[in-house]
Amino acid sequence: MMENKPLSDNPLHIDPLQDTAVREQLRAFAKLMAYYRCAMMEVETKFNVLNEEFSLRYDRNPINSIRTRLKTPPSIREKLTRRGLDVTVDNIEAHLNDVAGVRVVCSFPEDVYTLARALLSQDDLVLLEKKDYIAHPKPNGYRSLHLIVAVPIFLAHEKRMMRVEIQLRTIAMDFWASLEHQLRYKKDVDFTEDMRKDLKFCAELSAELDRRMDALRELVQEDKKA
Ligand code: GTP
Ligand code: MG
Repeated sequence: MMENKPLSDNPLHIDPLQDTAVREQLRAFAKLMAYYRCAMMEVETKFNVLNEEFSLRYDRNPINSIRTRLKTPPSIREKLTRRGLDVTVDNIEAHLNDVAGVRVVCSFPEDVYTLARALLSQDDLVLLEKKDYIAHPKPNGYRSLHLIVAVPIFLAHEKRMMRVEIQLRTIAMDFWASLEHQLRYKKDVDFTEDMRKDLKFCAELSAELDRRMDALRELVQEDKKA
């Protein structure tokens, strides 16, 4: 046992009392991350169910892909520190909305809103925040529908509400956002004004693609009804 070792065998010179506290925090952290993973699974399942039902009704899949991600410990630490908060397990749960992230890539813009409406009408889920960057794109051109929700996870002896960040976007929106992210994060360069304009132009092209594909979808749908 670590506590019984002489100090010379303890290369980090960790105070045994301190060490116990650290280990407790680590255990609490691991437990919280497990809860977030469960919450992501719940949300992913909800979308899979909606996709299944929709595909039976309309003969096509509104969801192209679903990706989930858990925020990494360095990224959690960085965000809390940036906000002037202590890095504690309590602060993670109290102050971060995006530890659990679910990204739903849809076929058409219409599908984004249909899925969001269907999800939010479920009575076990609470909407905490909504940002519609499709109706109101960011100045750089970024588009997506962001929802912060609280979903229940059912444990052996309790029900716990966990927050999940959901990003809904079309394939065209995802294409732009993924490449913009790569350009921004892989290199240590600032965008020049010209580069910014070019990226914005590409975002507008992707929005135009979405509009035209959505118009085609409507025509096909009407044709099927007739
Ligand atoms: P964060 O502190 O980064 O979480 O920002 P926020 O709390 O203001 O949230 P917002 O809803 O604006 O953005 C959250 C997430 O959306 C980011 O972590 C990205 O995944 C995505 N996002 C937002 N803006 C952009 C953007 O300009 N480009 C790309 N590629 N992704 C973006
Ligand atoms: Mg974030």
